[in-house]
Amino acid sequence: MTTTDTDTTSGPATDPPAIETHQLVKVFGTNRAVDGIDLRVPAGTVYGVLGPNGAGKTTAVRMLATLLRPDGGEARVFGKDVVRDADAVRARVSLTGQYASVDEDLTGAENLLLLGRLLGHGKAAARQRAAELLEAFGLADAAGRQVKNYSGGMRRRIDIAASILNTPDLLFLDEPTTGLDPRSRNQVWDIVRAVVAQGTTVLLTTQYLDEADQLAARIAVIDHGKVIAEGTKGELKASVGSGSVHVRLREAGQRPAAERVLTSVLDATVTLDPDPVALTATVDGRASELGAAEEAARALAELARAGIAVDNFALGQPSLDEVFLALTDRRTGDGRDGAGPDGRGPDGGGPDGGDGTRVDDPTERTTAR
Ligand SMILES: Nc1ncnc2c1ncn2[C@@H]1O[C@H](COP(=O)(O)OP(=O)(O)O)[C@@H](O)[C@H]1O
Ligand SMILES: [Mg+2]
Repeated sequence: MTTTDTDTTSGPATDPPAIETHQLVKVFGTNRAVDGIDLRVPAGTVYGVLGPNGAGKTTAVRMLATLLRPDGGEARVFGKDVVRDADAVRARVSLTGQYASVDEDLTGAENLLLLGRLLGHGKAAARQRAAELLEAFGLADAAGRQVKNYSGGMRRRIDIAASILNTPDLLFLDEPTTGLDPRSRNQVWDIVRAVVAQGTTVLLTTQYLDEADQLAARIAVIDHGKVIAEGTKGELKASVGSGSVHVRLREAGQRPAAERVLTSVLDATVTLDPDPVALTATVDGRASELGAAEEAARALAELARAGIAVDNFALGQPSLDEVFLALTDRRTGDGRDGAGPDGRGPDGGGPDGGDGTRVDDPTERTTAR
């Protein structure tokens, strides 16, 4: 556990983390949307909060950004309590799309200029900052167009630009790339990297494992309002499985037999790749005391013994997708017990259930305080 004493003797070595929460809780009716979350986000990094729709990401972010009052536990941002010192917190954070309300009827340039003026910049300074950001975000050509005519990707970029007019110490990006095409996602990723390079800490929520993988130094996986795993990507991967065994057979006809062998030898989940001669076994880390390499060698020997010709064999770390599935499966596995009181289904029967694509708009504009 971490120390909880606050060192007031100053000095960089004792700077508080960007975010520190202890048993943070938010309840909506009977729904414990955030159910006792402990987080520690070091300053100067991208911290990923990864979870499916309805996991509690936005609720957690809104508490940290002082937009929503916690029902339990506590949260500090750069050492300041989000309830008692809300003003001090607000002075250092920015939340994409919420503090910075982009007006659809104005052009990109007008929006940034107006917001810059509202933030107290002089006319020339505001103009210059707007121009810088439009250029940096690839929006210079669209600067004179009304935001309502922007594409989804451009809209997301102008939102982020607006939220960093004054370089915040901590930027919350709540699902910044949900719904974007791959090219726009890459542009947003580049922007996030640039923002961090300038010293801003970023808390990024996402449903996309590859996004967390690309950007985040550490990741907290949350589900049903709880942190179910936390660590660096490497730690998360190591905690779940020792690896994936990828096998290419000489003959497609032998795949069913290979599947049986791998399933029984490795006690693994075997998936059949689209390529008819290939299959992948995810080795369960908990089961393999031997370590991934030995498990893989054993599997290879068993395939040979069964007369199955293998053309290619590779051992890799599990992807974050595999990590996530393993973590959430495990949870559903022991789900019903422990958690008891919140009864109801894990999905809370909420409106966000089924289609899995439509999440709350990350650029949502909650009536800012
Ligand atoms: N204002 C609200 N009133 C009632 N329930 C809410 C409200 N906001 C969120 N919820 C519920 O809290 C849970 C977590 O939601 P949310 O934090 O938006 O998740 P995420 O951002 O991870 O998709 C969901 O079950 C959602 O339906
Ligand atoms: Mg959300």
